[in-house]
Amino acid sequence: MTMVTSVTGEPGVMACAQPQADALMIVDNFLPREFAAAMRADIDSHFATPYKHRPDTHQVWNFWYVPQTYTYLRTQPERVIQRASVEHFMGALRAWSSETLGLARLSWPYLSFYINGCRQGLHNDAQNGRFAFVYSLTRDERRSTGGETIVLRRGDPFLRNLRKATAGTALYELIEPCFNRLVVFDDRMVHGVQLVEGSMDPVEGRFVLHGHIEESAPIVTGPLPPEQVLQGLRCALEPFDKEHADQARHYDGPLVLRFTISPDGRVGSLRVILDRVFAEREGDVGWSAISGKLVERLRAVVFPAGAGETIVTLPLRFGSPVRRQDIPTHR
Ligand SMILES: [Fe+2]
Repeated sequence: MTMVTSVTGEPGVMACAQPQADALMIVDNFLPREFAAAMRADIDSHFATPYKHRPDTHQVWNFWYVPQTYTYLRTQPERVIQRASVEHFMGALRAWSSETLGLARLSWPYLSFYINGCRQGLHNDAQNGRFAFVYSLTRDERRSTGGETIVLRRGDPFLRNLRKATAGTALYELIEPCFNRLVVFDDRMVHGVQLVEGSMDPVEGRFVLHGHIEESAPIVTGPLPPEQVLQGLRCALEPFDKEHADQARHYDGPLVLRFTISPDGRVGSLRVILDRVFAEREGDVGWSAISGKLVERLRAVVFPAGAGETIVTLPLRFGSPVRRQDIPTHR
């Protein structure tokens, strides 16, 4: 189990009551309409007046073709959309992710473009992040079909349907790339993109901003300095780690807890906001006992007294880091 400590407190985004995050989340009308429309207008303007395209402004697309897996065009979004707009989107996404998932580290996105013949084969992104985000700037009315995000349902489709004829969306989620829709899902879930067919006019294709989300250092808001909170957490978590290292190494994924520290230093309300930890061994049922003991241990921590209530969002990592190499991120 690991706690990221390379970044200290993250002021800002914080609130209290929200449901536990799920494996797949869809947020329609994610941005105020005018912000989404401004980004889309930049895309339309990029493809307009084709006779005036110049190498420095228009030779920007990487045709990413990996046999059997990827066929689409991608670029850095700021080559097409005003950088301030992309920053605004990423700020909103980071606020949403910190609040909903308790995960505050985001990769800088790609802008991807799917035209007739483009698709993504099935794959997972287990080493790219904890969650994938896909934000659509695709027109709702377009002269093309396909482009839906496919996310396979959990479980063995063979064993689950031994006595039942099954097809299509009984086997997978199919999510339309509706304009201004945000889709977020566990990076380990098998996913892809349906083949796009139709007009060769680029503005009729599928456009998405996409990337990955992972854990940052604990997010601390309130009077207690983040370093004092980290110190208290280390005192509780390091012995727990030693005692349970043998059991914990069989598990993989993020666990995020959110709790309050009262002015007297004691832990008040504490709840799990994200639990995507799974056992590598089939049939293992020991996780709830381990996470229960961890919660108990955290409830017993006494932090220094403060002038008011402090709220802490604590992301913990079980298993190895998701990335082998660092990538450019948005903080
Ligand atoms: Fe992917």
